[in-house]
Amino acid sequence: MNTDNRWAWVEVDLGAIQKNVALLAKQAGKAQLWATVKANGYGHGAVQVAHAALGAGATGLCVALADEAHELRQAKITAPILIVSEQPATQFEQMLRDDVVATLYNESTINSYAKTASDLGIVGKVHLKVDTGMHRVGAPVASAMTRCRQIKSLVSLQLDGVYTHFAAADLPNHDETAKQVQRFDNVVAELDQESLRPKYVHTSNSAAAMRVLSATTDIARVGIAIYGIAPSGELESMAKDLQPALSLHARVSHVQHLASGEGVSYGLRTKLSQAATIATLPIGYADGVQRRLWKVGGEVLIGGKRCPIVGVVTMDQLMVNCGDADVQIGDHAILIGAQGSQSISANEIAVKLETIGYEIVCGISARIPRKYLDAKK
Ligand SMILES: Cc1ncc(COP(=O)(O)O)c(C=O)c1O
Repeated sequence: MNTDNRWAWVEVDLGAIQKNVALLAKQAGKAQLWATVKANGYGHGAVQVAHAALGAGATGLCVALADEAHELRQAKITAPILIVSEQPATQFEQMLRDDVVATLYNESTINSYAKTASDLGIVGKVHLKVDTGMHRVGAPVASAMTRCRQIKSLVSLQLDGVYTHFAAADLPNHDETAKQVQRFDNVVAELDQESLRPKYVHTSNSAAAMRVLSATTDIARVGIAIYGIAPSGELESMAKDLQPALSLHARVSHVQHLASGEGVSYGLRTKLSQAATIATLPIGYADGVQRRLWKVGGEVLIGGKRCPIVGVVTMDQLMVNCGDADVQIGDHAILIGAQGSQSISANEIAVKLETIGYEIVCGISARIPRKYLDAKK
């Protein structure tokens, strides 16, 4: 990737991902680590992250969409891939031909997936997702056993796993997680009683894996932590050994010396309180830098110093106040990452925007080129 061609780019340190995966796999103990690479690997690049994670000890992958699984298969990745929600019936044939692990939970979807598998002469691997309290998707606890028996009765399906997902594992003081663990453990006990326990029963996302919340996990479906980002502010201290893999860069494309009282950007919403050097960076909200970041104290590093974003972020460009610094066209700016002794994390920006680090990295658009560092085979 030639960063001379586009003065805004992402760098992804695959060595950092490998270190994070190795550390998390060790912490997961007997559980396997399946790296969650949905949404283009949380904006980092699904195929590159998948290769790095599998090379560092992950034994499977999780995605959200059938087409995300297909992209990994096209890249010759043969590891197990779990799609974590039901998919439209039009995707069933591709899923079966790709030999992915389907998540199922509705009676009708189970039957139609089984029918497609039977027509193709394929036995489809299935993980049943149980809704123990998140209330997003999954079979209600009360019908979990019925769904298990249904899957077991269909010869074109193989019940390979049963799992659940926590709603609040990233909030240590939330009391729902213990209740979810209990409800899931009850389901697992019933599976044991009927000798229906599949190869994998699993629960943990990053927060649950880091907090070792449930003994009932054969797989840790770890996402955000492999990218070196804490799942929440509350878990920052537990994530201190993780290394952020993504940094967001730009080069100064224009420099102005403006007098006190001048306004900057659309609407001229702020006036400079004193004369300043204003640097323009060719990156904007179409690249994933939110328009309102100027209003909530958004900053950029130039020359190792924090420079506030001044005026609204525009579609393709934003302006920063460099004070009296000597800034030149071509100077290197960091929007996420470290420069000198300063650093800006995805979670720092997330706090300002009242969101989570996940949204910041996933929001970096496809228009920004990704440069990969330090991939180890
Ligand atoms: C079912 C499921 N498992 C695991 C994950 C990974 O979560 P995290 O990135 O918090 O580790 C997700 C992500 O949302 C998910 O939906």
